[in-house]
Amino acid sequence: MEVAEEIQVSEGQIAVHWREEEYFYPPATFISQANAADPAIFERFSEEHFPECFKEYADLLDWDAYWHTTLDTSNPPFWKWFVGGRLNACFNCVDRHLATSHDKAAFIWVPEPEDQETKAITYQELYRRVNEFAALLRDFGGVKAGDRVTFHLPMVPELPVAMLACARLGVIHSEVFGGFSGAACGGRIADSESRILVTMDSYYREGKLLDHKVKADEALAVAHDRGFDVEKVLVWRRHPGQYSSETPMVDGRDFFVDELMDDYREKLVEPVSMPAEAPLFLMYTSGTTGQPKGCQHSTGGYLSYVAGTSKYYQDIHPEDTYWCFADIGWITGHSYIVYGPLALGTTSVMYEGVPTYPDPGRPWRIAERLGVNIFHTAPTTIRMLRKVGPDEPAKYDYRFKHMTTVGEPIEPDVWRWYHEAVGKGEAVIVDTWWQTENGGFLGSTLPALQPMKPGSCGPGVLGIYPVIYDEQGEVVEAGSGRAGNICIRNPWPGIFQGIWGQDERFVQTYYEKYCRNKESKDWRDWPYFAGDGAVQAADGYFRILGRVDDVINVAGHRLGTKELESATITVDEIAEAAAVPVIDEIRGRAVEMYVALKPGVDANSDIEQKVQKAIETEIGKIARPKNVWIVPDMPKTRSGKIMRRVIAGISNFADVGDITTLANPEIVDEIREHVQSEKVARGETPRELSPEEMEEIKAFGRAE
Ligand code: WTA
Repeated sequence: MEVAEEIQVSEGQIAVHWREEEYFYPPATFISQANAADPAIFERFSEEHFPECFKEYADLLDWDAYWHTTLDTSNPPFWKWFVGGRLNACFNCVDRHLATSHDKAAFIWVPEPEDQETKAITYQELYRRVNEFAALLRDFGGVKAGDRVTFHLPMVPELPVAMLACARLGVIHSEVFGGFSGAACGGRIADSESRILVTMDSYYREGKLLDHKVKADEALAVAHDRGFDVEKVLVWRRHPGQYSSETPMVDGRDFFVDELMDDYREKLVEPVSMPAEAPLFLMYTSGTTGQPKGCQHSTGGYLSYVAGTSKYYQDIHPEDTYWCFADIGWITGHSYIVYGPLALGTTSVMYEGVPTYPDPGRPWRIAERLGVNIFHTAPTTIRMLRKVGPDEPAKYDYRFKHMTTVGEPIEPDVWRWYHEAVGKGEAVIVDTWWQTENGGFLGSTLPALQPMKPGSCGPGVLGIYPVIYDEQGEVVEAGSGRAGNICIRNPWPGIFQGIWGQDERFVQTYYEKYCRNKESKDWRDWPYFAGDGAVQAADGYFRILGRVDDVINVAGHRLGTKELESATITVDEIAEAAAVPVIDEIRGRAVEMYVALKPGVDANSDIEQKVQKAIETEIGKIARPKNVWIVPDMPKTRSGKIMRRVIAGISNFADVGDITTLANPEIVDEIREHVQSEKVARGETPRELSPEEMEEIKAFGRAE
């Protein structure tokens, strides 16, 4: 460990004065109907009852065969849940509701253009569509249980149909967020070795019909370069029968699903009874290296966990109309638009487009019209809606009993607007902290039983026992005012099973840091390292400070600095690149790229454009940096490592910390002067950072 890093750590141990927020209490109307209103539930999920407490979640499902071992710890940290049990996830989300709810909407889909028809898809209709697509995948696609299929689908009903069709067959689905580039999709296809790609020709975004099929061709080319060829591309059409892409269909490889479907009308496919431990899906996410990780989620453990947390934390009853305003291309959508709500047989709303299209009243019109009573979104959407339409919610007649915030820390001020304006002071809020790797919530409040505190997610959820460790592995006590690394002491059913094809990376990333004894088969020796900084108040509530690894959370999307940097250095003129987070009013964080040019190359604005383009091509538009700074050299340690926290400090007009250990300390002033004067000229005037934000910037790049 280098001296500079030691200094940083000791800085992090100095207690900070964190302002405590006031509690907010749930209204009586909420408590009287809540799924979890009896405090005895805390006792049922106490550590003393672990792991058997999770039987309560698993019993929400229908099992073909009951399990014999609740938690198998014989091969840590590859935990196995509900071993011996068998079930089918699609059966649990669809078939079993038919007897009581066949006419009830499983999904209500709202297209972005307001003049297009909103569609209710009943459980019966969903059953038919899922069966037909499962038959097509099996008989035309030739896939069987255990195979992988990649989707690159936007927010259309075809996406959950495809997910459930795979689940019916025991096929592992891997959905790539529609906004990711073709190249990003191609990398994930190759990594998962999916022989089939399911995509769509086009979709609506901000009033425009975007060409999406073009990305499939790019994806296949990238996968091919990595030595993997896709056999079939199944293309849904946003308007059936009408192809809305410029890209030609490739004969013998690309097929229109609506045409193939004629052969599969009314076909039924028996759900395949899968072992609880069979993988249900992969979800790729960014980490410290350039290659995204395919997080592998199980069937029995995952589905139990999302059903249980949907019931108690989302307070979903079958008669609710629930709207999670996320994209199914992220874990939130998998767990809390599709699998959790459908396992409980409720009605889940899906919206195709952007929140503010065609105006910032749109979400509230949808809520009013559909009678939504549970609403779920991310701080970035809340900030945006507050900025452009602070008075809009009051104009619409809807009533939320419950609201969720997820994906990023929420500023207390933004939280209060959410509570007062969006929730009209009547809705409980749960701030749910968790990650792609976790399957479901880790930290939150049980809405009828634990008061809310703006800016804090709350304590660990039922059956989750978090702890904060310092760098040396000592417990940072609640109420000490010190920040540290939040970890979970125990396994839980929703935890991912591993990184697809990378067992070593899995153990190293999540368990190595705090494992007490690698030989031990006792879960107590294997705390899960979440990669987030946090502080715990005396009341046990956690305030999440953000990532301590090289990941930047932009509008709730995880972007790896290494991915951004390797995309950037595909630009010929660039020798070195470093990505840092900058506090952003709407997106929470934005990315700034620092680049150093190859010798003999002159700085010019073309380079900035090329960097933007390269990032858009390699990752997607969401990753485009706010600024690209061309610098004469990067601040580096004597061993040649770029000190990202120094440039992060400059970008945020914050303290850069100790620079005496740099090999080139003189460069810091030069960069600061250039960047900060340019920012002031661009109107990006700084505001004072909160203690949380300062902590995050200071910790940035610590994982290096
Ligand atoms: C951050 C999203 C503060 C955190 C479900 C985590 C949060 C990363 C919260 C995971 C929250 C998520 N408060 N920060 N309520 N929820 N985060 O994998 O840094 O897309 O590690 O999963 O988002 O992002 P991911």
